[in-house]
Amino acid sequence: MGPPVTETLDEPVELSLGDFDSHGVTRARVAQRWLEVEQGIPGEVVSARVTTGKRPQGRIIEVLKAATDRVAPPCEYFRDWKCGGCQWQHISYEGQIRRKRESVDAQMASAGIDVRVGQVHTEEPWRYRSTAGIALGRHAGFRRRASLAIVPIRDCPISHPLIGKLMATLNDQLQAGSIPDFHGRLRLDVRVLQSPRDGARMQVMVRPDQHRRPPAEDVEILLKALSDLEFVEQLAFTLITGEIELVRGDLFGTIEVAGRSVELVSGSFFQTNLKLLPSLIDRLLEEAGELKGKRIADVYGGVGIFGLFLAEHARDVAVVESDPLAIQAGERTAKAWGISNVRFLTGRAEDVLEGDGPYEVVVLDPPRTGLSDEVTNLLIAQKPERILYVSCLAQSLARDLTAFITAGYQVESLELFDFYPHTYHVELLAVLKN
Ligand SMILES: C[S@@+](CC[C@H](N)C(=O)[O-])C[C@H]1O[C@@H](n2cnc3c(N)ncnc32)[C@H](O)[C@@H]1O
Repeated sequence: MGPPVTETLDEPVELSLGDFDSHGVTRARVAQRWLEVEQGIPGEVVSARVTTGKRPQGRIIEVLKAATDRVAPPCEYFRDWKCGGCQWQHISYEGQIRRKRESVDAQMASAGIDVRVGQVHTEEPWRYRSTAGIALGRHAGFRRRASLAIVPIRDCPISHPLIGKLMATLNDQLQAGSIPDFHGRLRLDVRVLQSPRDGARMQVMVRPDQHRRPPAEDVEILLKALSDLEFVEQLAFTLITGEIELVRGDLFGTIEVAGRSVELVSGSFFQTNLKLLPSLIDRLLEEAGELKGKRIADVYGGVGIFGLFLAEHARDVAVVESDPLAIQAGERTAKAWGISNVRFLTGRAEDVLEGDGPYEVVVLDPPRTGLSDEVTNLLIAQKPERILYVSCLAQSLARDLTAFITAGYQVESLELFDFYPHTYHVELLAVLKN
């Protein structure tokens, strides 16, 4: 039996830490209740201050028995401010990889799937993020974990330095009163565009909260301040209708991926880790097999990055994507590359796949929730010979793999791409053959 839960907030308690929860946070059981203990590692014994209530939490004061892969976190915002951007900076990088692999393997085993993580692909684990969602209130930065409070960040070691530069500038301006306090009712979605020719520039999308919209005159002041920054190449903001109004530059911008120019549009999804992305593209090209004369689908295709790279070798590629602006960016890239065998289909996969296909090879890269039953069933009916499933959540991947296995597919391999070092997130590639 563990020690009783203290009712006082400042009475330290000795805790034995259990496994990570689904958000990469350790838990400890105290008097029949689970507590969340941040910056812990399973198996450790710690002394912690416990807060009781609806969501009991333990804050480590001292590590009494440390895991062998515990390290001192280098970032003050992680260490002292509980910044929600990272969860695992207190674990060595090797330890993070081992724990991610173990966690994915455990998910597969518990779903009864006979595959384990084979290759693990890594790159430089710092300065890898090219995108960020910056919250604006009294400060500019990222939200504290499990809180609405905003950490005043001046640099983020996992992000491109330009992202830090923007946050430092905004914090200076907030402190000087030259931009107003947005009370967390406004977010900036930023993306660093990089190419050898133009260097690093920034796309900024200003997103006022649609339900608690800040005053229009405050938004105007911010837009003016942002357009004065020489590294902001493109600035836009979302109107109450959801439409986008361009303030500065072109809505589209280019980056370079694996030596090719790719068009991106502000506000649409694109991978954040541009250093590791070429490895995933290489593996897709290898695993797609001989493509001559074959029909390919890149479903949940975004700006069509995977389909575009596969198109050179195939007869025909359909990029299926619900975001019309991402589709426009893809069309621009196809034109720039002189590719004419890619069809960009705007719409939900559930609707588009019914009237298109069949395909011999299908690339899937859905959001975290994975595939809907409709999409799974449409694909099973079309029987592609290969499915290359890119996933950012092992749980939904395991569920979807089970459906394909039941329909006669084999999972040939599972690889981990560490797109998000110092966080608990993973990127996975599962190769299925029929
Ligand atoms: C994880 S992103 C992958 C994008 C792209 N493969 C890439 O690597 O940049 C998922 C994409 O699926 C799109 N999406 C979400 N639900 C969809 C649906 N039901 N049908 C088609 N696309 C969808 C999103 O707009 C987003 O661009």
